[in-house]
Amino acid sequence: MSFSATERRRAEHITAQYPQSRSATLPLLHMVQDRDGWVSPQGIEDVAEFLGLTPAIVLGTCSFYTMFKTAPVGRLVVSVCTNIACLVNGGPDLFEHLRREYAHSDDVYVEEVECLAACDLAPVLQVNYEFHGPLTGETAVALIERYRAGELKARTISGTRQGSDH
Ligand code: FES
Repeated sequence: MSFSATERRRAEHITAQYPQSRSATLPLLHMVQDRDGWVSPQGIEDVAEFLGLTPAIVLGTCSFYTMFKTAPVGRLVVSVCTNIACLVNGGPDLFEHLRREYAHSDDVYVEEVECLAACDLAPVLQVNYEFHGPLTGETAVALIERYRAGELKARTISGTRQGSDH
């Protein structure tokens, strides 16, 4: 399998913005992550084939960035900061609360992250890279449930708006 005709047009549009096609590796990885919900081995193959690179080179780039998920995650990626400002304002408790709450969830993936550069919101989290804070365990669950119910529109797990060209 490779890109569909629509994906190919989109990939060509993205690649045309760079002097060297391989510079489009990251946006194309975002594109396949949005398509598949994670960067699957097939997604790596598709990007490599389109750019004329080996899958190993694309995987090597992909594996450097935590924004790329190389295993399936939920529709909602909740990134909880536990770095200094969040640490002293309850970030670790918030992370543990959410980790337990969504331990068996198919659509919510909770991860611990380093400083999100939004320390004034501590303790802060992101839902698909959208910032929220300060939150307690209870207000965070209420927030996530609003995303699950569709009351709040989530970005893709790459943080882009649906239908965006990145
Ligand atoms: S320490 Fe949490 S956002 Fe900076």
